[in-house]
Amino acid sequence: MPIVVVVGGQWGDEGKGRIVDLLARKARVVARYSAGNNAGHTIVNERGEFKLHLVPAGIFYPDKTCVIGNGVAVDPEVLLEEIDDLQSKGIDTSKLVLSDRAQLIMPWHIALDRLDEDSRGEHAIGTTGKGVGPCFVDKVARRGIRVADLLRAEDLIPRVRTALDYANRVITGVYGGEPIAFDDCLARYVEFGQRLAPYIGDVQAIVLGAHRQGAHVLLEGAQGSLLDLDHGTYPYVTSSVPSSSSGGAALGVGIGPTDIQRVVGVFKSYCTRVGNGPFPTELFDETAATLRDHGKEFGRGEYGTTTGRPRRIGWLDAVAARYSVRFNGLSALALTRLDVLDNLPTIKICTGYELDGQLIETLPARESVLDRVHPIYEELPGWMEPTTEVRNFDDLPEQAQAFVKRVEKLLECPVDLISVGPSREQAVIVNPIF
Ligand code: IMP
Repeated sequence: MPIVVVVGGQWGDEGKGRIVDLLARKARVVARYSAGNNAGHTIVNERGEFKLHLVPAGIFYPDKTCVIGNGVAVDPEVLLEEIDDLQSKGIDTSKLVLSDRAQLIMPWHIALDRLDEDSRGEHAIGTTGKGVGPCFVDKVARRGIRVADLLRAEDLIPRVRTALDYANRVITGVYGGEPIAFDDCLARYVEFGQRLAPYIGDVQAIVLGAHRQGAHVLLEGAQGSLLDLDHGTYPYVTSSVPSSSSGGAALGVGIGPTDIQRVVGVFKSYCTRVGNGPFPTELFDETAATLRDHGKEFGRGEYGTTTGRPRRIGWLDAVAARYSVRFNGLSALALTRLDVLDNLPTIKICTGYELDGQLIETLPARESVLDRVHPIYEELPGWMEPTTEVRNFDDLPEQAQAFVKRVEKLLECPVDLISVGPSREQAVIVNPIF
């Protein structure tokens, strides 16, 4: 039985949570493999609407094991709040497992994230301010603190002392900020450790164990591939590896690349981005406002799940998307929010960029180039009728079918699933993924 990865294909917020929620039905294990609580999923099901930042979207199925992999940066306070919230709404969290190898977000990471952003001025990345970048900096610098360290105060104390001493020197010396007190920090993390202890476990054993017994495993990415540290629009990227390549998915749960059978890329039918950085197809006109506020009255508008920031909006960028298909090695696409385009008379797709009279068909590495390119658009007629009740591809309006076919051609990958609304059943399954 396959291990399937679900990865965001653009700059995040493509609707992965909703696709994972749908696919999780057939999986025994659902595992998050990257990022931290900078990510956010909105899930609507019969129990209501939930915003998840760390807990995998499979948690709503009581029989699934939900795993937070070693590739995730975990803020224990946020995780405990999320567990408490789920439990208070009657969701069973007893099958949640947190990798003992995951890195912890510490108070100095959050302080440093904000100080670093301020110091960059107009070149700020536009981070979520959750401490994710500085957490990965400490990980690579080999002074990170891991979930396993929470289990024994004797392990935790020297690690916190070393890392905090260093962080305080940077906070005060480089940024002129306020130092963080050791005793308070330690006491809080000892308590977090006591509360999280029942959830801590060996993630690799769970993922591979299920796989070897023939069960389906779903690996859930966070954010989008164009925010990938290696392949994204650097430096306007996140500090983890959202993509399935760069080792993201396999590394993030401790398995090998050959254990993965399929990679599904989730793409919005248009494009959004939060934070700063290049966005060639960005729109500033009425269409942007229409798309951003579609479904706003039901909390479905294009506003960040984690920060509430309005998302930047643009047409589907097939150049960036095709690049993402290639470096992720995607086997299928899930196209989300098709219904958001229902009322547009004309829909555009960017098929190439023009710069100084030259045609560019692959995503340039240089920010200074990407900032100056002009998108070349192909215009397709809209369908101007609701698709929210459609469940079969053949029942989609002809123009919507043509749009999907064009996306497949331009992105060089088949569309296996289309979402036409926020609820679990509002989906058109073209080819079953499991
Ligand atoms: P960080 O991950 O908080 O360091 O932010 C780095 C960049 O990634 C910023 O542009 C953020 O807006 C963006 N980012 C981080 N997480 C998400 C997400 O879940 N959705 C969309 N953008 C995100």
